[in-house]
Parts: sequence; structure tokens; C-alpha cells
Amino acid sequence: MGGGFGFGGHGYNQRAARAGMRLQATPRPWPSASADESPRVSCRTEASGVNGSTMTDLSTPSASTLSASEATPAWFLKLLDRSAASEGDAFECRGEKLIVAGGIVRSQALASQAQEQTSRAFGFKWQKRDTFESEESLTRTRTWLIERYGQVTEETWFAGHGEHPIVLDAGCGAAMSAIELFGSKLDRIRYLGVDVSEAVDVARARFIERGANAAFAQVDLLRIPLAPESVDVIFSEGVLHHTDSTERAMKSLVPLLKVGGHFLFYVYRTKGPIREFVDDYIRQKLQAMKPEDAWAAMMPLTRLGKALGDLDVTIEVPEDVDLLEIPAGEHNLQRLFYWHVFKAFYNPKMSLEEMNHINFDWYAPMNAHRQSPEQVRAWCAEAGLVIERENVQEAGITIVARRAR
Ligand SMILES: C[S@@+](CC[C@H](N)C(=O)[O-])C[C@H]1O[C@@H](n2cnc3c(N)ncnc32)[C@H](O)[C@@H]1O
Repeated sequence: MGGGFGFGGHGYNQRAARAGMRLQATPRPWPSASADESPRVSCRTEASGVNGSTMTDLSTPSASTLSASEATPAWFLKLLDRSAASEGDAFECRGEKLIVAGGIVRSQALASQAQEQTSRAFGFKWQKRDTFESEESLTRTRTWLIERYGQVTEETWFAGHGEHPIVLDAGCGAAMSAIELFGSKLDRIRYLGVDVSEAVDVARARFIERGANAAFAQVDLLRIPLAPESVDVIFSEGVLHHTDSTERAMKSLVPLLKVGGHFLFYVYRTKGPIREFVDDYIRQKLQAMKPEDAWAAMMPLTRLGKALGDLDVTIEVPEDVDLLEIPAGEHNLQRLFYWHVFKAFYNPKMSLEEMNHINFDWYAPMNAHRQSPEQVRAWCAEAGLVIERENVQEAGITIVARRAR
């Protein structure tokens, strides 16, 4: 079931070009791979030069091209037990068949059908950069991240991981959240963005635009070819619930973390019964559509959310409706619909396209599991994670946890 990620040949090049990818020379704060960083037995080269001829198409006439080995930081090569990674190199690492394409290490493994659909939906969404990159959208994202995780780069625990912590962004998408959260320290951390979709190309382009060096891999986060205890921090914002199993995804990442390392993640929380029903219903309808058709199908709902929001009326729910988990009290009409009927995001400062981006993010992926805080706490305990910060909101559950064993 499902198919490969489809990055071979011109199809990949065209998609990368659509993602606005520019391979430009960037400052490289990390030392080059030294001679003693030779490959160990766990990773072996199978072939070289695969796809090499097509990859030169990625640069534009105005952009200077970096070779993949230059674009792949030395510390990442070391994590992969390699001394170099040239464009088109195919190799096996810890049981995963990988290939370097467009400066990104990519897996050729098959995804499940649900995961494949989810990957396609996100690959499509993150390429629509104008729907999430306005100052209004990014400020909103940044504020919400800091509210939940704290000012991460200023925290004592973060400093405890040294000057150049390895930060694995598991399910990086376009690296929107990572760039907003680690912003001022981007050039200092050793950032590894991993995503199952082609969003990694957009993430890489966005790092290059900021002159920050980083490593990227298009692999399933359940099959990241790193040795146990390789990374200092794992950040997984809004991702684990998009895999086939939130619990399995979370638990598969923990071993990659050094003991004492920190795991920051956010997962969806279970909502009331009407919203759960409607969400499943809409998701089921959309998952049969092509991403662009699903985007269009979301628009009327987005407009309805805007109409409700523009009304700016509140209503009084006279008493708790326990059967539907609707609490008594004053509710803004749009918020009442939002939390209890369907998700139609509203922010008067945002465009319809930006609001549609948020609704699409919620409804388009087939995989979008919801959890209770109790479930998440139990999984953390079972995985040897000690929760140091917990933020539970109607929308979701945010955790900062330390690996204790
Ligand atoms: C809602 S987006 C969040 C992106 C990013 N963390 C952010 O907050 O800006 C979820 C991302 O998880 C990725 N994803 C879903 N399942 C994945 C998997 N099994 N392995 C890696 N990435 C996955 C999707 O492709 C998508 O880019």
C-alpha cells in the first residue's frame, strides 16, 4: 500500500523548484568533517551518482550552487557515520535505504496509505508559503509557542545542553515553529529537520534565506537512521498525532535522545462529542480528494467561520450541557462553533487564505489522532520521560520532558 516519496528524477526537481528552493552559499559555523570521521560499518554506500545529472537543475541561474556535501553539515555526516555525502549518493544506514537529493538525505521506504495521504497533504500545504508567512501569522505562532513551551532558548535547561545542542525537529514541515521558537539561536544550534513530506525542501529554503546552516532529512520519524542517544533536544510540534500511532511515534523518538535530553512536543487533545464527530466526518470526506480540491472544499467553511466571527456576538449557555460537554456561561458565537461544532478558525487580522491554511492543516490529513492529558502522562512515564512543564489547553497538550533513563 502507498508509494515511495517520489523524489527521483525531474518530478522531484520540479517540486523543489516550485517550493522556491535556492541553493546559495551560506555561513557555515560548524567545522568540516575531519579525516577521523570515517564511516563505520553501520552505514554502507551502495551506489553513487544516482540522479546526479538531474540535481543541477535545482539551482537557478542567479543562485550559486552548493554541493550536497557542502550543504550537509559535518556534524550530521558524523551522526550518519559518513565522511561525505555527495549528490546522488545512495547508501544504507542502520537498515534504512537512503539517497542524497537536492542536498537532503531521503529515505526510499514506503509509507502506510494513511501516512502517505497525510504526507501529500502537508507537502502541498507547506509549499503555499504566502498562507503562513505573513508577520501576523508568524507573530501569532511565536506567541503561542512561547506561551506553551516558554522562552526555550533562555531556559536554564536549554543552556545545560551546551553551546551547540543538536536539536531534532521531528516533523519539521517548513520549519515554521522551529524558526519562530529557536529564532535568535538558529545559527548556534545544530538543527536537524526531519519530515516525511517534501516540506523539507521548503524548510531548507527558509533556513538558507536566513543564512542559517542546518541538516534536513526526508524520512519517517519512526525510522530516523540515527544511533541511540544522539541528540540533545527533540522538538515535535503538532506532529506525533499525524503518524499512524501517536504513542508509537512518541516512544520511537525517545531512544534517540541522550539521557538528560529534553523532549518538547504538542499533540491534539480530544474534544467534545459533536466536534469529534464532525471532525471525523469532514476528514473522511477530504481525504479522498486531491490536496488542491481539499483546499478549495475547505473555503466555504472558512468563510462561514469568518461570518460567525465578524458577527462578534456572545450568547449565554444557561447551564452545562453535560451530554455534549458544553459548559454554561457566555460564549462568543464563533468560539462556541469552533470548540463544539467544527473548526473554522477566525482572526480578523488574517486573510481568508491564511485562515484556510489553519483549517486545512486540521482537516486535510487523514491521520490526526486526539489524546487525553492522562494518556500523554502515562506514555511519558512508560518511556522514561519526566514532565517538567505541561500546558493543557482545549486545543492540545504541550509537554517539556526530560529523559531520565
Ligand atoms: C502540522 S505540521 C507541523 C510542522 C512543524 N512541526 C511546525 O509546527 O511548523 C505536521 C508535519 O508532520 C509531518 N509528519 C507527519 N507524519 C510524519 C512522520 N511519520 N514522519 C515525519 N514527519 C511526519 C507532516 O508532513 C507535516 O509537515
